Amino acid sequence: MRNGSTLLADFILMAASKPLAALDGDPMAVEALLRDVFGIVIDEAIRKGTSASEKVCEWKEPEELKQLLDLELQSQGESQEQILERCRAVIHYSVKTGHPRFFNQLFSGLDPHALAGRIITESLNTSQYTYEIAPVFVLMEEEVLKKLRALVGWNAGDGVFCPGGSISNMYAMNLARYQRYPDCKQRGLRALPPLALFTSKECHYSISKGAAFLGLGTDSVRVVKADERGKMIPEDLERQISLAEAEGSVPFLVSATSGTTVLGAFDPLDALADVCQRHRLWLHVDAAWGGSVLLSRTHRHLLDGIQRADSVAWNPHKLLGAGLQCSALLLRDTSNLLKRCHGSQASYLFQQDKFYDVALDTGDKVVQCGRRVDCLKLWLMWKAQGGQGLEQRVDRAFALTRYLVEEIKAREGFELVMEPEFVNVCFWFVPPSLRGKKESPDYSQKLSQVAPVLKERMVKKGSMMIGYQPHGTRANFFRMVLANPTLVKADIDFLLCELESLGQDL
Ligand SMILES: Cc1ncc(COP(=O)(O)O)c(C=O)c1O
Repeated sequence: MRNGSTLLADFILMAASKPLAALDGDPMAVEALLRDVFGIVIDEAIRKGTSASEKVCEWKEPEELKQLLDLELQSQGESQEQILERCRAVIHYSVKTGHPRFFNQLFSGLDPHALAGRIITESLNTSQYTYEIAPVFVLMEEEVLKKLRALVGWNAGDGVFCPGGSISNMYAMNLARYQRYPDCKQRGLRALPPLALFTSKECHYSISKGAAFLGLGTDSVRVVKADERGKMIPEDLERQISLAEAEGSVPFLVSATSGTTVLGAFDPLDALADVCQRHRLWLHVDAAWGGSVLLSRTHRHLLDGIQRADSVAWNPHKLLGAGLQCSALLLRDTSNLLKRCHGSQASYLFQQDKFYDVALDTGDKVVQCGRRVDCLKLWLMWKAQGGQGLEQRVDRAFALTRYLVEEIKAREGFELVMEPEFVNVCFWFVPPSLRGKKESPDYSQKLSQVAPVLKERMVKKGSMMIGYQPHGTRANFFRMVLANPTLVKADIDFLLCELESLGQDL
């Protein structure tokens, strides 16, 4: 029988002997593994993943994919060869969002400098909360936010990188509420009258999600009418404010959108700012999609008036291609509102007697504890491209949009939903059997079935990916997004020819 002290000795011996996992403590083996993995990443995810001659996706039914990936986790570790095979399989069956035929989302393409930033971020694996453990990134985040604020038109202010535009929008709602009712931080919903916020029917769904999440309730979101281009109508905003007040609610926030998700519309910010000024409402601009237009001297007029906002959400991971996630919440406030609203002064992290300026410990401004570094990918890409290079990307996306629009107008079987204002091009592909039948009573219902069928065909073939949706009373249409900076006219021609070919029998 082994006594307690022998057991303790064994235990200590275990700590001092060779580590358990195969590679732990073997720097040569670690390096060899990572070189192999990087080789696979470069071949499969980057070279093939961005090549027009490769598939954009490798569709499998979920049950088959589960089998192919052998997802179940086992008690025994695997050999290095098996692990490398697994890395290959993960990339092979994943959608290649950097592919020139991936048009499905508001982000696409693969910027090598941003990717380099993401790799460095992952490798350093730090958290953005204190200068102590992220000295470079605390300073860098502030510099990048300052640059974004300057593009908005502010020479002072605050901000933070958030995990996505939805969260940036929620922060804005929380800040607007706190500014008006600081008591609610402690007393919660008990400190509040029924509140009302206003946004257009074209807004992103994160506004109503945010209202639910923050305890405001989705009923507190008053939907303002938009015109036929998808822009919020200021006169209807006035009407909705009066209505809400008459019903006993207290208006506190207007969320305008610069670059709506489907139509790409820009709300009239100056006119909305006038309304907000009259009613003393917080103006938030959800520029998650359209914010990057501020870089273009030619097109930034679309956001005229943005400098009058109280807060702006801007996702450089969308049009600028910085990589997921990169979303800035920018504030005009200079009174430390972010920190007052969210801070909780945890004494084990934000000690006030540190040996450096504790104002650099920015982590108490946010509701997260650990927070990813999201500034490096944008900073490195900006350093490489310069503001001018990024401006050219934005201008080029607009130019290619024009090309696509003219092609759609010229080709039989394609119909624009509307003239685009931005780089979202919404259009129908009308298959041969429906051409010239617009007047027939089931036209719209039949047209609605076209996009889902074509989507299934393109995904199963792996030739391209493009999103579709219904919109109000409009039948399903495609939304083409020109965000990938490597796109050329040939990619646009491919898109149209491929739709024609996939839909010729319909
Ligand atoms: C206008 C708008 N706002 C907010 C978001 C949400 O951004 P995220 O996906 O980063 O949460 C989107 C996403 O498409 C958007 O289009």
